[in-house]
Amino acid sequence: MHPLQCVLQAQRCLRWGPLTSVSWLLLRTCRAHSGVRSSAGPSPERRQEDGVWKDFSSRLATGPTFQHFLRSASVPQEKPSTPDVEDPPPYLTVDDLLGRQRKVYLETYGCQMNVNDTEIAWSILQKSGYLRTSNLQEADVVLLVTCSIREKAEQTIWNRLHQLKSLKSKRLRSRVPLRIGILGCMAERLKEEILNREKTVDILAGPDAYRDLPRLLAVAESGQQAANVLLSMDETYADVLPVQMSPSATSAFVSIMRGCDNMCSYCIVPFTRGRERSRPVASILEEVRKLSEQGLKEVTLLGQNVNSFRDTSEVQFNNAVSTNLSRGFSTNYKAKQGGLRFAYLLDQVSRIDPEMRIRFTSPHPKDFPDEVLQLIHERDNICKQIHLPAQSGSSRVLEAMRRGYSREAYVELIHHIRESIPGVSLSSDFIAGFCGETEEDHLQTVSLLQEVQYNMGFLFAYSMRQKTRAYHRLKDDIPEEVKLRRLEELITVFREEATKANKTFVGCTQLVLVEGLSKRSATDLYGRNDGNLKVIFPDVAMEDVTNPGLRVQAQPGDYVLVKITSASSQTLKGHVLCRTTLKDSAAYC
Ligand code: 5AD
Ligand code: SF4
Repeated sequence: MHPLQCVLQAQRCLRWGPLTSVSWLLLRTCRAHSGVRSSAGPSPERRQEDGVWKDFSSRLATGPTFQHFLRSASVPQEKPSTPDVEDPPPYLTVDDLLGRQRKVYLETYGCQMNVNDTEIAWSILQKSGYLRTSNLQEADVVLLVTCSIREKAEQTIWNRLHQLKSLKSKRLRSRVPLRIGILGCMAERLKEEILNREKTVDILAGPDAYRDLPRLLAVAESGQQAANVLLSMDETYADVLPVQMSPSATSAFVSIMRGCDNMCSYCIVPFTRGRERSRPVASILEEVRKLSEQGLKEVTLLGQNVNSFRDTSEVQFNNAVSTNLSRGFSTNYKAKQGGLRFAYLLDQVSRIDPEMRIRFTSPHPKDFPDEVLQLIHERDNICKQIHLPAQSGSSRVLEAMRRGYSREAYVELIHHIRESIPGVSLSSDFIAGFCGETEEDHLQTVSLLQEVQYNMGFLFAYSMRQKTRAYHRLKDDIPEEVKLRRLEELITVFREEATKANKTFVGCTQLVLVEGLSKRSATDLYGRNDGNLKVIFPDVAMEDVTNPGLRVQAQPGDYVLVKITSASSQTLKGHVLCRTTLKDSAAYC
């Protein structure tokens, strides 16, 4: 990206985005190319005398023009994923942007979105001629895809950087210098603080800057630090086909939207991942079709708020009807209108391959209109599993968190979902010890866990994040030991309730998508039921319902029916009945 382009792109930046970082990025970029221009040199007079000044004028004349910057600034939104080979920036040649078989080692921290981002970053680098290695010792470039959601996640990265520093300093001179990059949320949140604190870091790329990786690495080749932490209003990497890091025979994740507009008061995500934007439906369907052709049996649609999906790229479709929110729910942003919504996408995706299971994560409880619930109920291959992050069981705390609903509205939604989708499996996220949480508030969360009996849960101690509304307006006043004690209590209650909920499966037959050999026993296989619970069963020969009389051994990617004999808070165990298909099994479950 050209320096001026940074400024022009800033106009498309987030309202709360890094406007201050634009000039910083501009400065860094200029410095990155300043090897020729700003090294301390002779006085202007002398330079003119010995011809250097003349040389500088002629270089100016042959350098990029204002038109060049304007042209570059109006590149279409969905750029090709390869560097622009016909029109490279004048100060980096096409060759500079190539990986020249340098080996990249990628390490992913945090959520599933980061796994998907790693696959996108790798796809971009692979096209530029980089190779991938899973051996840190032979890497020429180490990239950490980072998470900022809690303090602990960031501490892990600082510790890792410390180890990498020593790897870098011990590197043999005969090898190319090791380059280290911080990608994702931490790069976005801390920006130059990382470069200043850890000189060992060569490049920073925020979640919307992965297309710029080849250029950032090229700049780093000259020994300069390089960064791009601009957030975008429209980057969805729609045209970048992710390269799965550890290809699975059974399932893949497909990113359908990025960013978040909700601004829950505790959450850093809107600041690190930017504004909510959805990927065009057509490109999602194309990716799912390809995965189906490869024989994958499960796709999980990914996003920070998947069910808030709204593809507005089809300008002719402008449905003026305002959005139907779940009853009793409100938003922190102005009502949005039009576009292709999640129900439409889910319907289309699920029609691609009736043998392919469809899941989605993570949704927001506010966006569950009846049409989504009906579709989940009716369509055999859409899993009857809903993640419904509650965060707290106390209406008072929910208000402080700016979640846009009360405990009552949430519970009513749970009832409505259970009526609409009998047998639905439910999971949730909870935060223990949010600002001002009293013992009474905490007990309300305990009682919500008991009332709902989730099948799965993700529980966290509150971690104050700078920039968030809670940081500016509330006090992180719950002592650490109280947060941890409350968290422990929530975990205990959650486990008890999940065990009860999962025991209702005992005696039932479950359709399981086989994933592989159990890690605990070489004679057992494991897979997941429709509700995403792990199911373990002995690896024995069985009948194949589509080929009566044939005895088969289950393979990853097969659907099998398993009779459940025992259950814990996290797993089900049973014995296998037969190999089947998703369609044939619908009658059983
Ligand atoms: N502290 C603790 N947990 C948090 N989460 C988000 N922000 C914080 C924070 N500051 C949790 C929420 C969210 C999940 C992804 O992480 O429960 O749903
Ligand atoms: Fe964070 Fe709330 Fe957005 Fe989830 S919905 S990413 S918790 S701001």
